[in-house]
Amino acid sequence: MKPIETERLRIRNWLDTDRALFAEINADPTVMEFFPRRRERAEADALMDEARQRIEATDLGFFAVALKNGDTPIGFCGLAVTDLEPFLPHGTVEIGLRLALPFWGKGYVTEAGKALLHHGFAERGLDEIVSFAVAKNKRSTAVMRRLGLRHDPARDFDHPRVPDTHPHLKRHVLYSLSRNDWTLGLNIEKAG
Ligand SMILES: CC(C)(COP(=O)(O)OP(=O)(O)OC[C@H]1O[C@@H](n2cnc3c(N)ncnc32)[C@H](O)[C@@H]1OP(=O)(O)O)[C@@H](O)C(=O)NCCC(=O)NCCS
Repeated sequence: MKPIETERLRIRNWLDTDRALFAEINADPTVMEFFPRRRERAEADALMDEARQRIEATDLGFFAVALKNGDTPIGFCGLAVTDLEPFLPHGTVEIGLRLALPFWGKGYVTEAGKALLHHGFAERGLDEIVSFAVAKNKRSTAVMRRLGLRHDPARDFDHPRVPDTHPHLKRHVLYSLSRNDWTLGLNIEKAG
């Protein structure tokens, strides 16, 4: 993929030098509060390899987010094809976000998310982008709202890959944005 640059960030494919950061994110209990389990280093490495191959093959997936200054990795943010039928139709694209704890609270994810919405709608011609999270994950739903996605309660669902041992993490809220509404929002921003 061709890296996407914003004011402070570079969104790009994964590098071997990102492995420590990727593993740190996936092992941190605060970052992973709303996910059923943490991942060991070997598992995190395998996951990063899988993400890298998917991006090489399709230009979609969970990309690395790095600070533009120094190319220091801080987390991931991506446009990925979901695998959640029948809850989401085949081909539905989600925006996903996860940063290492020291980089929370600086607006980085909203900045990256805006660039990804532009990439998804304007460059790739997607009709809709969704995002979902455990209902209590307020930081995540706040980002979705800042990006202009809206809650669509009729599409909330119990995540099929969350095990029964974690019932409190099953219910997910679904937020979505259509290309039409994204374009409308941009026009309002320009006018205002
Ligand atoms: C979800 C997650 C990515 C949100 O991160 P975040 O740092 O809260 O989100 P943003 O990058 O948009 O930052 C917004 C905050 O930065 C502040 N901020 C500071 N400088 C800013 C700037 N220059 N521009 C914009 N906001 C700025 C905002 O005021 C806001 O603060 P607040 O949280 O106190 O209201 C993060 O909590 C995370 O990685 N969670 C774990 C993984 C997860 O649950 N992912 C989602 C489930 S799919």
